[in-house]
Amino acid sequence: MCGIVGYCGPRVVSQVLIEGLRRLEYRGYDSAGISIADSQQFTTVKKTGKIKELSAAVPEDIQGLSGIGHTRWATHGEVNDTNAHPHLDGSGKVVIVHNGIIENYEALKSKLKSQGTVFVSETDSEVISHLIAQYYEGDLEHAVIKVLPLLKGTYGLAVMHTSEPGKIVGARNGSPLVLGIGDHEMFIASDVTAILQYTKEAVYLNDGELVAMTKDGYKTFDINNNEISKQIEQINWEIEQIEKDGFPHFMEKEIYEQVASIKRAFTGRLSLDTASGHLGGLDMLPQELHSIERVKIIAAGTSYYASLIAAYLIERIARIPATAELSSEVRYKNPIVERNSLYFAVSQSGETADTLYAMRELQRKGAKVLGVCNVVGSTIARESNGGVYLHSGPEIAVASTKAFTSQLTIFYIFTLILARMRHMAFEDGLEFIKGLQSVPSHIEQILSKTDELQSLARKYYKHTNVLFLGRGLNYPVALEGALKLKEISYIHAEGYSAAEIKHGPIALINEETPSLFIVPDDALRDKVISNMKEVKARKGPLIAFAVEGDTEVAEIADDVFFVPKANELMYPFLMVIPSQVFAYYCAIELGRDVDQPRNLAKSVTVE
Ligand code: M6R
Repeated sequence: MCGIVGYCGPRVVSQVLIEGLRRLEYRGYDSAGISIADSQQFTTVKKTGKIKELSAAVPEDIQGLSGIGHTRWATHGEVNDTNAHPHLDGSGKVVIVHNGIIENYEALKSKLKSQGTVFVSETDSEVISHLIAQYYEGDLEHAVIKVLPLLKGTYGLAVMHTSEPGKIVGARNGSPLVLGIGDHEMFIASDVTAILQYTKEAVYLNDGELVAMTKDGYKTFDINNNEISKQIEQINWEIEQIEKDGFPHFMEKEIYEQVASIKRAFTGRLSLDTASGHLGGLDMLPQELHSIERVKIIAAGTSYYASLIAAYLIERIARIPATAELSSEVRYKNPIVERNSLYFAVSQSGETADTLYAMRELQRKGAKVLGVCNVVGSTIARESNGGVYLHSGPEIAVASTKAFTSQLTIFYIFTLILARMRHMAFEDGLEFIKGLQSVPSHIEQILSKTDELQSLARKYYKHTNVLFLGRGLNYPVALEGALKLKEISYIHAEGYSAAEIKHGPIALINEETPSLFIVPDDALRDKVISNMKEVKARKGPLIAFAVEGDTEVAEIADDVFFVPKANELMYPFLMVIPSQVFAYYCAIELGRDVDQPRNLAKSVTVE
């Protein structure tokens, strides 16, 4: 989604802004712009397309005391240079960048128009610059404070005024903003990746909070202009983690990182002595964990598919009723919060609007909601009632990969904890732990033969429809495999329970529509093989991801990719990896923009 970066200090402002925007590219955008303040005026450059085009259009000799930049992901108004941010008021004295949506902009716009204001863009955001100009009486903080109550909707906002050069005022309501503190320099951004190369000291703004900053310092305050003292937090990501490190794409790098990221997610959280696990962030006493009667998980996209697996696993192994629901649906269904239910909000970014708002709704109804997030300091992580970090490191590719397997790891540990407190025997706990600890080396084996998946992609990438089919714990893996393929290759793909095809999707089967079956050697294997035969009888091309040594599957399928034999509960980890790699190579064959697929954003901060 949209990204913001701002800077006050002695560096070349345009370079800091362009570099920051480049770091925000991964979030998804269609145009970008910057405004730089010298002691008298703003120089503003806006461009549709990639940051390199913006960079080429910025004059080299541009001088500045401060500046703000923005990557826009269009919501109101088409993608063009005029609708790109920053937006100025008519006199050119106020300039703003805005993330979020101003829901009442039409009413505000008509009123301003009736007073003679001329609008140049079709955006909702432009009203903000005109309003601030109207309320400005020599103090930018005051003007912003007066305007914010007029805005309905969400904003992460950064504002400058020509009469106060070198100053940026920021405000947050529903769209993240973080300050970076340097040595006689200050940064503001919607995402720490934009400022990570300059500072590790961050202050996260909460909703309803504002900041005024210059190169010499900052003041945080609320809408009543009461000063607020905020804690300075250390950013624990390294700059190398947001570089491609020799890989052609972040997605490929992140697929390979899973060997290490899964290990990181379970390291220090498993105990062979107790055959159980420990998730400190849950902050729950054993009695509380004992009294859980129901687990409910909310999430979106890939995080939702990981949550579906988690719910299956918790019911099956810990014998506690568990469900996963789409957060976008939970928010508006007036959810019932039952006693002794434990809720999880699962989100890689920790900023997904659907999940955040659903979490708040559940909390309003008395739910305890634990966060499972990757981004430290993200809104869901901060507003949840405890939780666990994935420690996957930054996930830059829009297509989520390593977050999925780390989310699974956390829920596998959580299941183990619950199961061991109830009926699971010590030996079974040890088996479970060993199974989980073997996952990274099994993934390493899978990643040593990605050439096979590349050949598979070369054979199938021209097909326009693909079905992904799996059952039990691997049914959500089929859903995730289909999502990966469609989002980065634009091949239409659908995931189904293999058992469901006879209830409708089998009508799609013909020689042109391949079915990719996920066939672990578990209790449902024979049933999945029957489903494969149903497809074969209708001349549908058959791909299978199966377990080494499964000659029966190899005989039926046209193509098979083998994963190592493992504890049967661990196959979701092993089966999702070839799905990711297959999708990656299909996208490469089709020449797609793998890391930034069309129309998509990394962090979906609008509803
Ligand atoms: O940051 P979150 O995990 O909350 O994001 C949820 C979805 O937007 C995300 O998983 C999306 O579906 C990805 N593009 C999938 O690869």
